Amino acid sequence: MIQTWKELETECKSCRKCGLCETRNNVVFGVGKKDAEVLFIGEGPGEKEDLQGEPFVGRAGQLLDKMLAAVDLSRENNIYIANIVKCRPPKNRDPLPEEQEACINWLRNQVMLMRPKIIVALGRIAAMQIIKPDIKITKEHGIFFERKNVLMMATLHPAALLRNPNQKPAAFEDFIKLRDKINEICERTY
Ligand code: URA
Repeated sequence: MIQTWKELETECKSCRKCGLCETRNNVVFGVGKKDAEVLFIGEGPGEKEDLQGEPFVGRAGQLLDKMLAAVDLSRENNIYIANIVKCRPPKNRDPLPEEQEACINWLRNQVMLMRPKIIVALGRIAAMQIIKPDIKITKEHGIFFERKNVLMMATLHPAALLRNPNQKPAAFEDFIKLRDKINEICERTY
């Protein structure tokens, strides 16, 4: 494991562990407070993220920022946001299992340095990778699971909410549960 954020970011940005390095414009390492108590994890960069080098800057990202703001969270102030894979899968397809495997140690190293108290998985791919492989996100979103002393919750992916706006109230309830849990166990977030 790499011991400093600076070295980790430099190494990650020159990664060639899988084929996605051939088509990327930027490695999307992550954004936010590196000492945050709450970490959000998405699936992988889309087109805008690949071009700008920052996670969740497209339409889904704008919706995410709005939902975060509703519970007084923001990438500027009190959370960190990263993805399972750091490079854009072509045409926004799901990242392949071997691409996730090749990339996951970068995220593990980020988690090791950050030591978050709560991790929120955005969508099915992140939830399967970090909570459990057989998670049913439609049934199990909003539930906290404990893994190695860290609480983990899945919520619906903001891109899915753009496709199905009728699911927005359910996702909003997850954010309220998150706010309550932060109030219960975090000391520096609010
Ligand atoms: N969707 C994701 O899962 N991650 C991003 O960074 C952008 C869109």
